[in-house]
Amino acid sequence: MKARKNERSKKPRCGGAAAAWLLVPLLVLVVLKTDSLPQLTRHSVAEAPPSPASSDGIAGDGVDGIKGVAAPKISKLSCNFSSERMNVCAMEGDVRMHGRTATVYVVAASNDSYQPENGTVGIRPYTRKWEVRTMEMVREVTIRSSAGPDVTATDVDAAAPPRCTVTHDVPAVVFSTGGYSYNFFHSMTDIVVPLFNTAREYDGQVQLLVTDYDRTLIFKLRHFLGALSVYPVIDLDADDAVRCFPAMRVGIESHKELGIIPALSRKGYTMSDLQGFLRQAYSLKRAWSTPANRSSGQRPRLLMMQRRKSRAITNEADAIATATQIGFEVVVAGPEVVKNMARFAEVVNTCDVMLGVHGAGLTNMVFLPRSATLVQIVPWGEMKWACWSAFREPAPDMGLRYVEYEVTAEETTLKDKYPRDHAVFTDPLSIHREGFDKMWGIFLEGQNVTLNMDRFTGVMQQIYQFITIT
Ligand SMILES: *[C@@H]1O[C@H](CO)[C@@H](O)[C@H](O)[C@H]1NC(C)=O
Ligand SMILES: *[C@@H]1O[C@H](CO)[C@@H](O)[C@H](O)[C@H]1NC(C)=O
Ligand SMILES: *[C@@H]1O[C@H](CO)[C@@H](O)[C@H](O)[C@H]1NC(C)=O
Ligand SMILES: *[C@@H]1O[C@H](CO)[C@@H](O)[C@H](O)[C@H]1NC(C)=O
Ligand SMILES: *[C@@H]1O[C@H](CO)[C@@H](O)[C@H](O)[C@H]1NC(C)=O
Repeated sequence: MKARKNERSKKPRCGGAAAAWLLVPLLVLVVLKTDSLPQLTRHSVAEAPPSPASSDGIAGDGVDGIKGVAAPKISKLSCNFSSERMNVCAMEGDVRMHGRTATVYVVAASNDSYQPENGTVGIRPYTRKWEVRTMEMVREVTIRSSAGPDVTATDVDAAAPPRCTVTHDVPAVVFSTGGYSYNFFHSMTDIVVPLFNTAREYDGQVQLLVTDYDRTLIFKLRHFLGALSVYPVIDLDADDAVRCFPAMRVGIESHKELGIIPALSRKGYTMSDLQGFLRQAYSLKRAWSTPANRSSGQRPRLLMMQRRKSRAITNEADAIATATQIGFEVVVAGPEVVKNMARFAEVVNTCDVMLGVHGAGLTNMVFLPRSATLVQIVPWGEMKWACWSAFREPAPDMGLRYVEYEVTAEETTLKDKYPRDHAVFTDPLSIHREGFDKMWGIFLEGQNVTLNMDRFTGVMQQIYQFITIT
């Protein structure tokens, strides 16, 4: 990860100091124009000349400084550390970010601001605060707050903030793509949902800043990110500019696994809002799954999610034949198809039922039309709790019907590895108690599933009856 980051050669924003100075007259023009012509304010970034290192650099820089308006802004910093999922700070006024050092300067914070000890607070902008190991993979962003003129007792940090080299006129949102976000369930629950919660309200007029920049993930999520912000994402760790913003949020807001709690959302967003947003971002056609009319030969579309190395359905061909015979049009999706997020989102959205053994692939449920059905096959080994929190609990808010198929001791390939009197069968929870790695190795990586065709037929017939009409 580190190596990839270093390889990334970032093109300088302007060709050295001389070229930057040439920009000054242009810059003044842009500033004056944006002042008089409101329709030009979409021009977000104004390049300012680099400043001498010895400058005093206190408030009044940036656009104000260029216009010669000396009145310093008063900033405000507020933080919330009370959620068990994440820490967040919001600031406005004169906010400056230096990416390489992951430092935010809140210049001249007002007396009703959050006042951290020694003026410094650190935030790891990822949404699994309760997972110590995950959070260790996330870079800490330091927020340094200096005291404003209305603060008398100054135990606040006095370190001079650097001068702006780039001034943005839209707010910024800072988050990390470290953690587990390479796993699709995690990219959705840890990043996409919280980022929607935090940045959707700006209606595209927001600058996204990413630390622990995962180039693969940013590319994978490009449709979503492009719908969220009209500006390209900035790789903070590689950025040597001092970027100034009128407002910033460090940390994104997660309420629960793969879901939104409207009461905790500033704008009262719901999962339905997120689904609508995703439909637009990925050009998906169906908001609703409607019953198929058997009399006119319609077949509901069943998407079967394949897995290969573990939790594979060993008698998949039988399952496909059975479902087809019942009346479904079966669409099979292997890992290589699922990989292309945008293309697969379209496939998912054309389906009425999505079926698969518990795994990250089921996260694609967010692209199903509402009133579609999710069938989760729960592997052997008391895995219900994990399966419920990942996919069963989020389903209702997405308007999805949820059907569960829990694998029996007869249907797991673990029976070829362990005798029936082994703890794997007699006391699966004792395996859980031996630790996460043991549980993961045996129950998640160590089994495939051989469906009992009589039982499977019964379940699929019920679903078919329920979602079709005559
Ligand atoms: C801080 O976050 C918690 C949990 O997300 C929330 O319940 C609370 O209302 C927040 N406090 C403020 C002042 O926003
Ligand atoms: C604040 O500074 C004092 C003195 O330098 C130091 O002892 C203390 O640990 C610092 N507190 C924090 C939170 O950094
Ligand atoms: C905070 O600043 C305001 C002016 O911005 C002032 O009226 C108020 O008295 C100050 N409060 C304290 C506790 O210093
Ligand atoms: C289903 O299709 C049949 C044959 O085309 C038609 O007569 C019937 O009205 C349809 N049912 C509904 C509910 O649309
Ligand atoms: C599951 O089946 C696949 C072949 O379909 C095999 O390669 C893999 O090793 C099996 N995994 C387990 C845990 O049995």
